[in-house]
Amino acid sequence: MSKQNKTLGEFIIENQTAFKYTTGELTRLLNSIRLAAKVVNHEVNKAGLVDIIGNAGDVNIQGEDQQKLDVYANDVFIQTLIKRNIVCGIASEEEDDFVSINSQDSKNQNKYVVLIDPLDGSSNIDVNVSVGTIFSVYRRITPVGSPVTIDDFLQEGHQQVAAGYIVYGTSTMLVYTTGAGVNGFTLNPAIGTFYLSHPDMSFPLDGNIYSCNEGNYIHFPQGIKDYIKYCQMEEDDRPYTSRYIGSLVSDFHRNMIKGGIYLYPKSSKNPKGKLRLLYECNPMAFLAEQANGKASDGFTRIMDIKPTELHERVPFMCGSKHMVEKAEEFERKALK
Ligand code: AHG
Ligand code: MN
Ligand code: MN
Repeated sequence: MSKQNKTLGEFIIENQTAFKYTTGELTRLLNSIRLAAKVVNHEVNKAGLVDIIGNAGDVNIQGEDQQKLDVYANDVFIQTLIKRNIVCGIASEEEDDFVSINSQDSKNQNKYVVLIDPLDGSSNIDVNVSVGTIFSVYRRITPVGSPVTIDDFLQEGHQQVAAGYIVYGTSTMLVYTTGAGVNGFTLNPAIGTFYLSHPDMSFPLDGNIYSCNEGNYIHFPQGIKDYIKYCQMEEDDRPYTSRYIGSLVSDFHRNMIKGGIYLYPKSSKNPKGKLRLLYECNPMAFLAEQANGKASDGFTRIMDIKPTELHERVPFMCGSKHMVEKAEEFERKALK
């Protein structure tokens, strides 16, 4: 990486004036996420070591060492945002209800709420495969200074002001948008700094990767079955290749760079789909659209769905625009 590359800190400051509601508050919020990401990254990197250290030295292992990493990541992100007094509310996949930060403090003038999937793909932790964090930011709709309500969190995805993910992979990257394109930053672990490594990221319009859990195939709706068969057919540039990590962040990241589609349809096992609209689908949809891609539930744009509950699930397809359009075409055809 060249010495001239911008750091994430520099990039956030340089771009804050381009953001339509410039107050510096979003800048502080992004900086807090950057900090929490580094803390979680450190812990993820030594995931397999915790037992070894504990067994060998009878080290004074505190509760946090034994916590599952998704609980640990949840605590780090929530505590970082609360302690730095950055937001007025947080909702997390790991919490039953949203957390209101200004309920006891009417002086809290913060405008933003954050929704987060602290550790995505957590079944991959034990086997040394990439996991991630997904975050989504909205301006509150209730008056500043009052306690947040559920309405502040149940906003349509197109109201997001920022969204992003961290992928703890072969290298650790933070990728985010504030509605002016998507930029990716790679962590230099030696000095703990994120550098701009992937400016202006963009999905190729077409691709040849499809990513879904084909173990669920027999439970998929007919339109999805037909689309998967289409991907496997020998014609033109097909068969496509199948790649599925089982971590939305990692599958999305690969598909954005190489061109591809990610699908988690509804099925007889998961009649409403599996992925969560607020913590997973909306932020990824915002990133996808900002990167010239597309995200839908098979029929409707994800960011136009009106959420009705915090942990709502939806069918999800997302990625290269032409591939998503093709999959939607198969879904529509199967209904006729
Ligand atoms: P999480 O670890 O936050 O619960 O999310 C897991 C999600 C998503 O990241 C992944 O693509 C999908 O669930 C995998 O589900 P299957 O194991 O059913 O394929
Ligand atoms: Mn997840
Ligand atoms: Mn999770």
